[in-house]
Amino acid sequence: MSIAYAGIDFGTSNSTVGVFSGALPELINLDQGNPEMPSAIFFNFEDEQIVYGRQAKQEYIRGDEGRLMQALKSILGTSLIQEKTAVMGGRMAFRDIIALYLRQLKHKLDAHLNEDVTKVVLGRPVHFIDGNETADKAAQDTLESIARQEGFKDIAFQYEPIAAALAYEQTVAQEELILVLDIGGGTADFSIIRVSPDRRNAPDRSNDILANTGVHIGGTDFDRLLSMAQVMPQLGYKTLTKCGKRALPSKYYFDLATWQFINQLYAPNILRELSEVRREAAQPHLVERLREVIRAKDGHALATRVEQAKIDLSSADIATVKIELEEEDVLLEMSTTEFRAAIDASICKIEQTINEALSNAGVTGDQINSMFLTGGTTRIPLLRRHFQELLPNATIVEGDVFGAVGLGLAADARRKFA
Ligand SMILES: Nc1ncnc2c1ncn2[C@@H]1O[C@H](COP(=O)(O)OP(=O)(O)OP(=O)(O)O)[C@@H](O)[C@H]1O
Ligand SMILES: [Mg+2]
Repeated sequence: MSIAYAGIDFGTSNSTVGVFSGALPELINLDQGNPEMPSAIFFNFEDEQIVYGRQAKQEYIRGDEGRLMQALKSILGTSLIQEKTAVMGGRMAFRDIIALYLRQLKHKLDAHLNEDVTKVVLGRPVHFIDGNETADKAAQDTLESIARQEGFKDIAFQYEPIAAALAYEQTVAQEELILVLDIGGGTADFSIIRVSPDRRNAPDRSNDILANTGVHIGGTDFDRLLSMAQVMPQLGYKTLTKCGKRALPSKYYFDLATWQFINQLYAPNILRELSEVRREAAQPHLVERLREVIRAKDGHALATRVEQAKIDLSSADIATVKIELEEEDVLLEMSTTEFRAAIDASICKIEQTINEALSNAGVTGDQINSMFLTGGTTRIPLLRRHFQELLPNATIVEGDVFGAVGLGLAADARRKFA
């Protein structure tokens, strides 16, 4: 039997599986020939099948009756993890839905290596949950217990940005001081590491890891912020009641703009509650739009269009979002300036977290030789400009945006388990 080592990057938006059996780590094909698989599950009520990744999104967007789950990693460490949600044939705890997804990843890994893989390094963000060590530990413990339940026996964890650095280190020719910026769907993680071709296989690298910091902000937050700023007002968010004294309750809008909460709006009582809200609203036709989106179960489709607009704004100044309604669709335009305004406070927190890493490492921004970018959200030009200001002498190294963490976890598995 060949000896292979495996790492799993269970991401908020996308997941990868890395294996290390030859000279370099590689990613296995997970989804329709692609190494990354969207972290999405669709319970199709029509044919009673559970499907994953791209197929999950495709069947949902095609309009099949069913339930889509996304951004499940964000539920780890929260009270929602043990809660049950309606899927076909009854109710299922979020924990068990994550287990189904992990089972799928393990199936693909076992099939690729043709063995029952029991050793694995799992990636984790620097903080699953900000400022709450107990919840943060609970998140990792839950992920570990799920992995154990699904058949892994030796389970180790590695910080996602360190894994990315280990992947980059496979390619460097000389020692460098690097700052890894890993900003994905759910978290922004930063590590300052001395990488070197000589030390890359050393068993203990703690002296080379100078700092790790992270904050629970990622691309799915930007989707929500853009939606709340530009889209939800078209459905009544921030409008007033008839008496003009109060704004309409924001909860419905928040849930509709947040991937992992959208399904909650499909509970039977919500449309009834919203008729009440509509009756009191100064602009009832806007609340009626909200009811229509919910009645049509169009929440994920709308969130997908907002996400696409956000992605479009990485390469254009204007993007559009369509709100599909029976009478007449509403077409909204949004600009990079509006996007910037929506995410401004988050950018500040991201900068603070980078500065914290620099100060923990005892270095200044101008001492960093390279910044290694990974995670889909690092593609936003506005963020890159901020990074360049903070790290004026650093060369930008574009990592494999979706794959660096998975590759590094496999490299780490070889160091840990060999
Ligand atoms: N060109 C782009 N511009 C802006 N955002 C993008 C672009 N491409 C992808 N994204 C965003 O990147 C995010 C997904 O990135 P990635 O797959 O690295 O996250 P993840 O690893 O699943 O999340 P995490 O590591 O936080 O758990 C999504 O929010 C997606 O909208
Ligand atoms: Mg990631």
